[in-house]
Amino acid sequence: MTILLTGIGLLATQDAELGEIPEAALVIEDDRIAWVGAASSAPAADERVELGGRAVVPGFVDSHAHLVFAGDRTAEFAARMAGMPYAAGGIRTTVAATRAATDAALRVNLARLRTELVRAGVTTFECKSGYGLDVATEERSLRVAREFTDETTFLGAHVVPPDIDRDDYLAQVTGPMLDACAPYARWIDAFCEVGAFDGDETRAVLTAGTAKGLGARVHANQLTTGPGVRIAVELGAASADHCTHLTDEDVDALAGSGTVATLLPLAEFSTRSPYPDARRLLDAGAAVALATDCNPGSAYSTSMPLAIALAVREMRMTPAEAVHAATATGAKALRRNDIGSLTPGRRADLVVLDAPSYVHLAYRPGVPLVAEVWQSGTRVA
Ligand code: NIG
Ligand code: FE
Repeated sequence: MTILLTGIGLLATQDAELGEIPEAALVIEDDRIAWVGAASSAPAADERVELGGRAVVPGFVDSHAHLVFAGDRTAEFAARMAGMPYAAGGIRTTVAATRAATDAALRVNLARLRTELVRAGVTTFECKSGYGLDVATEERSLRVAREFTDETTFLGAHVVPPDIDRDDYLAQVTGPMLDACAPYARWIDAFCEVGAFDGDETRAVLTAGTAKGLGARVHANQLTTGPGVRIAVELGAASADHCTHLTDEDVDALAGSGTVATLLPLAEFSTRSPYPDARRLLDAGAAVALATDCNPGSAYSTSMPLAIALAVREMRMTPAEAVHAATATGAKALRRNDIGSLTPGRRADLVVLDAPSYVHLAYRPGVPLVAEVWQSGTRVA
């Protein structure tokens, strides 16, 4: 079964060789991309879809999201907008609600957020645990997450929950909790931050996870400069996420590594914090990804288009760089080479925009420009 999408005003492939193709077409064969090029030289296909000059980009890859939780933190957000600072401790409010929730309730909430993500053009998303923080709730968080995505991440090291000694908790995270969660997780993550975990603790958690076959990713340098980025690079983590407060050494370490700097501007937006300096990272040669960080505390948004607009407006990325970061580099942050660009052989995951160019994602902030979403060759929104 082949489908020809034609009349594409601008096809931003995110493939280094194919680049951006005006007046383009694309052929899908089953779940994969079979051909891309000028519409005038497109091959015949079983079905033909005319896109009327609209732009096409790869499906967005949201490589950082916390989607298994119950309740919300409306009051905390309102208090913050009235002047309260953001701190790691708010996580505990969501932990209480998540522990009290049934699997069915967690599933309903995650399904709702997945629907939002897909409507925003996201075709692959990562999902962390981290609001259970006991063996049973972390395990069931990941079991539920696995029903929705293969990109699941064990984040037992989010904060130390109340009513447990710090060393006892760390022994759980690196022992029985890891054992219970590893079968449902691809990745392990730790929140390396004042008020969460220090460098030695982060290293111990990540090392225990990688010894179990999980890949490492780190919440690093979100609220303060600290050792998170250096540990991520040292351990060969797939990504160091947030990267809001970086020293020159951190920037150099990222630039000389295979670790992606994943920036999460919706968190800075929602905590009224200074944005990370994407330009500094890109100019140094680091790989920069953008993701939502969707979670009920610091960034309750599923909007990759808004993340792109903020990255352009506030973080000195060009529109082309921001779209690349939300697609191809997001795929790199998940160490995936089957998604992230519109290259023959890759999954047919793509977004049709109600605009002649992807530049409109930043030029028209807040406007719902995602017109169609195709995932593995099927239209899903
Ligand atoms: O990525 N930084 C740690 N975790 C989340 C926030 C979690 C919360 O406040 O509930 C983040 O911003
Ligand atoms: Fe996060």
